[in-house]
Amino acid sequence: MATFNLKVNGKEHQVEVAPDTPVLWVLRDHLQLVGTKFGCGMAQCGACTIHVDGNAMRSCSVPVQSVADKSLTTIEGLSDKGDHPLQEAWIEHDVPQCGYCQAGQIMNAAAFLKENPNPTDEEIATAMNGNICRCGTYLRIKAAIKTAAKNMS
Ligand code: FES
Ligand code: FES
Repeated sequence: MATFNLKVNGKEHQVEVAPDTPVLWVLRDHLQLVGTKFGCGMAQCGACTIHVDGNAMRSCSVPVQSVADKSLTTIEGLSDKGDHPLQEAWIEHDVPQCGYCQAGQIMNAAAFLKENPNPTDEEIATAMNGNICRCGTYLRIKAAIKTAAKNMS
């Protein structure tokens, strides 16, 4: 066990866990931030995607010791009132089906749009390729990202 200081969604937290504990476990079990989902646990599905210093990362496969003193953002901290342009576009396009993959999809898309605010369809497809949706909402996800990009420009 070791003590780590983490900054999550702008707030400081102290957790006592084994250094190799995946960040996803810390978020869900220690900080009760359960918006980030466990899917595969092997960096394969994207359900657990968060931002680490603004970059999309798969929190199931990142040990807590590697993010101490970095700034983490989860779906709960993406916007103040759930009003990030992506979240609004998600509602407009009625994207989720079961919803399980959607926080990860939005977090991946948010980091992507920061890097590429005016993406082509192909760039969106490539950027979102690793986020799996077992319900097959891919077309609505792409449409919502296009709408969000338009609204952010
Ligand atoms: S749960 Fe992390 S990528 Fe699947
Ligand atoms: S909405 Fe069900 S897994 Fe994506």
